Amino acid sequence: MAQGWILLILIVSMVISFLAADPPDQPSKPECHIPCDDICGVDIHCRWNHRFDAQIPTSYSLHWETADRIEGHVNTGTRLSGFVHREHFSMNSELRVWVQAENKHGSAKSQVVVFNTEDLTKPSPPIITWSHEDPLEISWSSICSEMHLSLGSCDVRYRIQAEELWEEDDVGAQVNYEFSGPAQPGVVYEFQVRCSCATGLVSDWSATHRIRSAEEAPTGQMDVWKDCGVLTTNADCVMTWKKLPISQAHGHIMGYEVTLFSKHSTTVLVNISVADPRGLLVCDELKCYLNSTLKSVSSASVSAYNAHGATVPSLLTIPTAGNVRSGNFIDVKMNMENLTVSWQLPSQHPNTRPFKEYVVQYKQTGRLLGKGFDWIRVNKSCTTVTFTGHFKRYWPYQVSLFTVTPDQQSHHVSSVISYSCHGIPAKVRSFKVISIAETHATLFWEPVLLSMQNGQVLSYEIGVHGQMAVYNVSASPQDQNNTFELQNLSADQEYEVWIKAVTKAGPGPKVTTSFITKQQHHLQLKSKSHLLSLLIPVIICCVLVFLSFHKGASKACLCMNEKVPDPYNSTIYQMMTYQANESISWISIPIFEPHPTVSALEVVEIQRPLCEDQTKSPVSSEGCTRKHRYGKGEYSKMVDSEDEKDMSKVTGRDDCWSSTEEEQDSSGYERHFLPTAEEILNS
Ligand SMILES: *[C@@H]1O[C@H](CO)[C@@H](O)[C@H](O)[C@H]1NC(C)=O
Ligand SMILES: *[C@@H]1O[C@H](CO)[C@@H](O)[C@H](O)[C@H]1NC(C)=O
Ligand SMILES: *[C@@H]1O[C@H](CO)[C@@H](O)[C@H](O)[C@H]1NC(C)=O
Repeated sequence: MAQGWILLILIVSMVISFLAADPPDQPSKPECHIPCDDICGVDIHCRWNHRFDAQIPTSYSLHWETADRIEGHVNTGTRLSGFVHREHFSMNSELRVWVQAENKHGSAKSQVVVFNTEDLTKPSPPIITWSHEDPLEISWSSICSEMHLSLGSCDVRYRIQAEELWEEDDVGAQVNYEFSGPAQPGVVYEFQVRCSCATGLVSDWSATHRIRSAEEAPTGQMDVWKDCGVLTTNADCVMTWKKLPISQAHGHIMGYEVTLFSKHSTTVLVNISVADPRGLLVCDELKCYLNSTLKSVSSASVSAYNAHGATVPSLLTIPTAGNVRSGNFIDVKMNMENLTVSWQLPSQHPNTRPFKEYVVQYKQTGRLLGKGFDWIRVNKSCTTVTFTGHFKRYWPYQVSLFTVTPDQQSHHVSSVISYSCHGIPAKVRSFKVISIAETHATLFWEPVLLSMQNGQVLSYEIGVHGQMAVYNVSASPQDQNNTFELQNLSADQEYEVWIKAVTKAGPGPKVTTSFITKQQHHLQLKSKSHLLSLLIPVIICCVLVFLSFHKGASKACLCMNEKVPDPYNSTIYQMMTYQANESISWISIPIFEPHPTVSALEVVEIQRPLCEDQTKSPVSSEGCTRKHRYGKGEYSKMVDSEDEKDMSKVTGRDDCWSSTEEEQDSSGYERHFLPTAEEILNS
């Protein structure tokens, strides 16, 4: 049965693949000519194009039909060209030609081209034999005369080197051409020519001929700026400038003249040759920087020179390191190819000096001065710019906006950190409890190092081990004090808390710490079993006190109990002590309890109350509130000391707190069904 199904599926898929397989696409019309060099050839060369599936072998055949209706063809295999040999056609007569493509699924025929065999002669391209640079001029020779034909018509095309598009001019039956437009100085122009003779086809384009136009002095000003690293840490800057575009350089830039004006009113002139920069100049394709400190420099200027002159110096003022403003003026959208910055300055921006333009810069953090840096200068009506490049993922880039006044003073407006692609952040550097109270604790963390964030940290998730709730703390710069107050805790209880930094890519690894909340200072009841085990002896004591009052006896009452939990733990006990002190003294003797059974209600044994003379062994109130539990003294000390020790180091606690859900339940129970501290006080 199963085999039958498999067979069926196989057959169906074979049928589908057969039906899906198409015959070949139609090939293009063949283009045919008879090539002529010094003399013309005899065979007709034809060429065509075809879009074919590389998976399916396709073969071609070139077909013809003469005016006398004689058909013929030649198989060309996989080649996209073929010949019609001289014996298959006569000169000066009509010939019809087409191409057929064939694969295993079928065949396709091109359109038919019809021509007179006389018109198929095609001269070889002209040769540019002479040129001149000022004015730009070329001349060439064609082979028409060798073919005993007159020159038909020629076309010239030209472009500036490295540009993509050609300009084309029809020059008629000429063998020279003078560039008509104003040529840019110091630029390499490329020229090509093609010609036809009196009959036949136009030649192919000639080989490219290059001419550098005459150089002139560079014009305009250089775009100079400074890389001061990541702006919060700038101790130094380097001066950097864009190479002049060819339209301004007007020739080969031989070097740069840099003038440094120091803070001590001295001036240093540095003449850097591009050919021999002596380590002072570092350039990439588009820009250069001066490999020298600007620490004692207040301003600088640079100009570029070629053999004919120099640009007007461009001035740069070096700012003294100041505070970096961050703000929400800037919006950055970034991927691995594009970094788009847009901004919106508030009308009442503190930067009141009139400015003429903006500079937007980015700095790849962690890179040396001059590296991983770029800037764009735009006029003041612009509010967005885009950098293109290769932006590393998970890497922080600092994007900054400046305004520049007409005298080249720059003012920092705002900076933001941005990422081309967000990753999962590393752990926070540290996580600790900086203050602990009975019901709340303040947590503090040191954020992930910028270099390890892998993305913008949007928020921190904080959770308590064993609890469902996760607190989400915003990481926006406004609320970045890196603290969080955990509330609604129970007193005298250990909590384990964790924190994760969260980026767009998700949360990073947890860092955990733990702490113990303080003991209660006020009457607060923790669990019903605890309460009941404490209340029973206390109530009995009170009854005894009451009775002894009635008997008029001036005796103190000692509630002694060897098995029930230590009542000194309880603030109820303390409260009762205060109340009783008004009229009667209580004598309480601390009872050593090596293994307390605080919540074991069933072991409670009501002891006979002992009433003794009040002069005996008064107990300090401290003994009533401090907890003496085996193995816990160490903890209490650490918690009480309230120092900023990393609480996650506190170890060794392996105890018996009920699960958190139970704890919440019992506290809920307490809230609803048991008297509160106030109620007991007021009763
Ligand atoms: C800088 O050097 C170039 C080439 O050596 C020279 O032509 C030019 O005059 C020099 N500039 C200054 C200001 O000395
Ligand atoms: C970068 O910008 C260019 C031009 O707008 C666009 O064609 C390209 O797709 C962009 N690249 C990415 C990765 O978005
Ligand atoms: C956490 O807070 C951040 C910033 O306030 C917010 O963008 C994010 O959506 C919040 N996440 C959750 C899970 O609530």
